[in-house]
Amino acid sequence: MRVGVAGVGRMGAAIAAHLIDAGHAVTVWNRAPEKTRPLADAGAKVASSPAELAGEVEAVVTILTNREALAAVYEGPSGLLTGDAKGKLFIEMSTVQPRDEVALAEKVRAKGGIFVECPVGGTVGPARQGKLLGVAGAAKEDFARAKPLLDQMCRRVEHVGRVGAGASLKLALNLPLLVYYQALAEAYVLCRHLKLDNKWLMEFLSDTSGGPNVLKNRGPAIAAALDGNDPGTANFDIDMIRKDLATMLAEAKASGATLPLVEKALSIYDDASREGWGKRDGAWLPAYWPGRAQR
Ligand SMILES: NC(=O)c1ccc[n+]([C@@H]2O[C@H](COP(=O)([O-])OP(=O)(O)OC[C@H]3O[C@@H](n4cnc5c(N)ncnc54)[C@H](OP(=O)(O)O)[C@@H]3O)[C@@H](O)[C@H]2O)c1
Repeated sequence: MRVGVAGVGRMGAAIAAHLIDAGHAVTVWNRAPEKTRPLADAGAKVASSPAELAGEVEAVVTILTNREALAAVYEGPSGLLTGDAKGKLFIEMSTVQPRDEVALAEKVRAKGGIFVECPVGGTVGPARQGKLLGVAGAAKEDFARAKPLLDQMCRRVEHVGRVGAGASLKLALNLPLLVYYQALAEAYVLCRHLKLDNKWLMEFLSDTSGGPNVLKNRGPAIAAALDGNDPGTANFDIDMIRKDLATMLAEAKASGATLPLVEKALSIYDDASREGWGKRDGAWLPAYWPGRAQR
């Protein structure tokens, strides 16, 4: 299939590389053009604008920072929707508010396109291996059209309702993880005087009732951060986490709800960012608070 990926940041690049491996004819575009180079080397065609990309493919995948990025890439002067959108499938995977996906779906449909939102759980590694967790919102027939491609990108895809439903569930599934990083920091404050091996401690906590999946996947990286060592590449960094938490708060506010844990967690991530931790992976966060807890 001819597939375009408009926006090849960390997630978009990993998805595009996987789609190339899966045998698709992939065209890519990115605002900062240098990020397309490794994909061009791997066989992707590089478009000079989103509009040109839309003209060359049957399906377009987007996974972008936020609402502003979506507006620029879809509706900008040479955006996807100024190209030929008729009959084309748009799979939108960014983490944004449901209302942003609903508004975008209307614009895509007005141009004759088919719109499926499918935000994802899982980070760069799973994206590169086609093992994301997808939560799709779409009309039934539109989801059916997107399903074969989604199945190649995801280890599991759930169709959870109409456009907007996927965004709601995506925000919900990220919330406990992002709050957990701070909960773990506070748990560590209570037991650090024992001077246990941090790698062992993460493994042990993962075997307890309060231990989430992230400890199994990221325990060694968190232990490295607690030891003061670099846990490796930042795939989901503290600034991107702040964007997700702020999106959760905006979504709750729109429905008249409050999220006190999210508010507090965001204020701590904000502090960490102000102190220069913004580009560090979230796995660093459990190491942030212990250094400040005695103030
Ligand atoms: N990282 C993860 O583990 C992860 C996991 C699941 C979901 N997500 C979600 O996936 C999305 C992308 O995350 P990421 O980690 O891949 O972020 P990223 O590496 O920062 O990439 C963001 C992409 O958006 C583009 N972009 C931002 N503002 C733009 C604008 N105004 N105009 C055009 N393009 C713009 C960037 O272009 P430039 O390169 O030119 O800046 C880049 O292609 C976010 O919504 C995030 O919440 C991330």
